[in-house]
Amino acid sequence: MRLTFLAFLATLATAAPPSLEPRQTVQKVTIDVTKKYQTIDGFGFSAAFQRANLVVNLKDPKQTEVLNLLFNTSSGAGFSIVRNGIGSSKDSQKDYMNTILPVCPSSADGTPEYKWDGKDSGQLWLSQKAVAYGVSTFYANAWSAPGCMKTNGNDANGGMLCGISGASKCNSGDWKQAYANYLVKYIQLYIQSGVPITHVGFLNEPDYTTSYASMSSSGTQAAEFIKILRPTLDRNNLTSIGINCCEATGWSVASQHASQISSSGALGMVYAVTSHEYTSRISGTMGTKARVWQTEYSDLNGGWSTAWYSNGGAGDGFTWANTVFNGIVNSNLSAYIFWEGVQDRATNNNNNEKLILIDGGNYVVSKRLWAFAQFRIVRPGAVRVGASGGSGVKSAAFLNKDGSLAVVVINSGTGAQSVGVSLGASTVPNPKFSAWYTDNSHDMVETPVTVATDGTASASVPGRGMISFLVTGDVAAPAPTPSVVRG
Ligand SMILES: *[C@@H]1O[C@H](CO)[C@@H](O)[C@H](O)[C@H]1NC(C)=O
Ligand SMILES: *[C@@H]1O[C@H](CO)[C@@H](O)[C@H](O)[C@H]1NC(C)=O
Ligand SMILES: *[C@@H]1O[C@H](CO)[C@@H](O)[C@H](O)[C@H]1NC(C)=O
Repeated sequence: MRLTFLAFLATLATAAPPSLEPRQTVQKVTIDVTKKYQTIDGFGFSAAFQRANLVVNLKDPKQTEVLNLLFNTSSGAGFSIVRNGIGSSKDSQKDYMNTILPVCPSSADGTPEYKWDGKDSGQLWLSQKAVAYGVSTFYANAWSAPGCMKTNGNDANGGMLCGISGASKCNSGDWKQAYANYLVKYIQLYIQSGVPITHVGFLNEPDYTTSYASMSSSGTQAAEFIKILRPTLDRNNLTSIGINCCEATGWSVASQHASQISSSGALGMVYAVTSHEYTSRISGTMGTKARVWQTEYSDLNGGWSTAWYSNGGAGDGFTWANTVFNGIVNSNLSAYIFWEGVQDRATNNNNNEKLILIDGGNYVVSKRLWAFAQFRIVRPGAVRVGASGGSGVKSAAFLNKDGSLAVVVINSGTGAQSVGVSLGASTVPNPKFSAWYTDNSHDMVETPVTVATDGTASASVPGRGMISFLVTGDVAAPAPTPSVVRG
């Protein structure tokens, strides 16, 4: 288009005045898809101990809103893993999870009479809803075997599985095979109800004895059971179910479990070594060939908080953004699972154990949920790839199975920064960039991206904010093989 001189003057008169703000230096993060790290299984939460019922009992539209907050990949956290508790209690008093085997046969090889209530403490309903949102990873995790299979005759207060080496003798015999059969039955009931369980765990915090469901085990004892559970799953056509172990209270015990399972020769039967972060935080890498998942952690002490950044406290969303980031980037985790997705105020602790507070027919969302939402563009099966550069920012990149590239960046500084993403040497025909950010007053809000002539895509992120870029296009497509014309 050619402008007359007068028309040109007119465009100058209406143009916005030049910004008085100094141009921000772009903190450039360069991606290297040739550097490949671990595969990501996903991000998740639990609604164990009857917390799922809080969502079951909500009225619409609130119920749908909460489901969207948990599972929607375009408006919520887009969680991709649900960790369900396999109940071991005889009844549902307090918040206990009832078992499908409230009464055992009189001997370990007797025929069990399973009782399926079709609810499973609300977890079946929540899982079916998750399936409808496209969730495909369901981790069924027992806190304990039913009491009748244990040395102490109780599903609570520790005790061991009868028949495990090192356990005191049980008059009723060796229950290892019966426990494996029981776990298979639970998985089958879920599959029949349309929920494809993908992973199973048979312990929770086996290094901690408590007044609710708990069962003691070392890694060596766990390996002994794994050698029975694996062939039992396989015989029942459940070959694709992964065994996870052992839900240690903290990283140092989980590392012991990993080495004991390995020296017992059962590591090849384990999908993921699982750790919590209560008694020791995740740091460094575990050095195991199995995948590693963080399967339960939350702030159990602070009063209920919805802040993104208040003081860097254990309940802050920003703290959680960093916690998940560190686990995935520095400790090679393939999954990060928060503790409770939802809780109420009246019967549960008024603390930060939950992402969403459900109370009196209403709900309140914490920023911890939005910290996880920033990772929702990293889909199951993504491979972490190289990302480096930029000052005052932490970055990580992931190649999704559909070929899109997810880049998550935390601005550790207190001032706003302009963050740029450079695809480096990767040739990307027609890349399209989108970005979303979270801070004290925004929740995974889409923000404009500008692409410079050198291809660097940048967007501004507030101080102590987190931004996630999604690059669609042909990022992962292998370079076309030049056709060779012979003749
Ligand atoms: C997810 O949220 C978007 C935006 O609110 C909505 O249009 C879509 O229907 C939701 N998806 C599902 C599966 O409910
Ligand atoms: C075993 O599983 C496969 C794949 O899920 C299924 O097609 C087949 O029917 C199953 N066979 C039996 C005996 O259950
Ligand atoms: C990271 O985990 C994978 C399994 O997902 C494992 O093969 C690899 O050795 C681990 N790397 C480090 C540095 O621990």
